[in-house]
Amino acid sequence: MIKTGFIGGGNMAEAMIKGMISRGMNNIIVSDRSEARLNHLSNTYGVETTLSNMKVVEAAGLIVLAVKPQQMDDVLREIGDAVGEDKTVMSIAAGITLAHLSSAIKSNRIIRVMPNTPALVGEGMSVMSLCECFSDEGLSAARDVLMSIGTVMTLPEKHMDAVTALSGSGPGFIALFAEHMINAGTKMGLNDNDALTLVVQTLLGTARLLDSGTTPARLREMVTSPGGTTAAGLEVFRRKNLQDTISAALEAARNRSQELGTGRQ
Ligand SMILES: NC(=O)c1ccc[n+]([C@@H]2O[C@H](COP(=O)([O-])OP(=O)(O)OC[C@H]3O[C@@H](n4cnc5c(N)ncnc54)[C@H](OP(=O)(O)O)[C@@H]3O)[C@@H](O)[C@H]2O)c1
Repeated sequence: MIKTGFIGGGNMAEAMIKGMISRGMNNIIVSDRSEARLNHLSNTYGVETTLSNMKVVEAAGLIVLAVKPQQMDDVLREIGDAVGEDKTVMSIAAGITLAHLSSAIKSNRIIRVMPNTPALVGEGMSVMSLCECFSDEGLSAARDVLMSIGTVMTLPEKHMDAVTALSGSGPGFIALFAEHMINAGTKMGLNDNDALTLVVQTLLGTARLLDSGTTPARLREMVTSPGGTTAAGLEVFRRKNLQDTISAALEAARNRSQELGTGRQ
């Protein structure tokens, strides 16, 4: 099995390592600039760790760049020339394009990925973009890593800003909706814990139903009887123009992703 090396051992790297270990994929090396962080990862998951990014480049066949976008250029400057044609590089940094990665790295085997936070519980949504020029064991190793934290999709890079809005920022939007439902529940007299349980289980159940093939429109119709309670609530959303609000929020997230990607930060 190809060795997977992480450069940057933060939250997202840890989610991926956790997923991989749970599937018996334990041929892993991680570098970070924090010794405390590395100790945590080696004690919790038994992975090999190092303070040297170059050691990861030498040891791994699949190199996952898991630093923040603003830290990426330092890493690319450090490792760029040392990454040989035989290595696969997978960046999970928001907004860092394939063209930017290619300008610093010699290998053609470069993958850009947008994962999301539910990866922490193995329910992530990862979207990959890559040069169509490669489809070898490096690519299948990358896919295996992403499948260990959830679902994987491949899309042309031109969709990455929309993907960032929907699935990258999406958990934040859904969480906001949950917060407002919980607050509304407590205003109606429920205690915090009960309101939280009602909302979380409703989100989970709704997601499972949608995942089973019921379309969102069909599910909405199933719970809406004429003159009933859901109809009363939906009518308020319609009057307050929830659809336009959601559309504007998603477009703002998409536009911000475009700005970050073109360096207008
Ligand atoms: N978290 C998410 O939900 C999410 C979702 C989608 C995509 N992503 C992407 O995932 C990437 C990582 O995010 P994260 O939340 O895991 O960030 P994070 O927790 O800050 O992890 C990055 C780690 O890399 C370390 N680091 C920084 N510069 C380094 C260097 N030159 N060499 C080695 N290690 C270095 C950082 O150390 P310091 O703490 O000392 O800086 C930190 O421990 C980001 O690019 C982000 O866009 C994250």
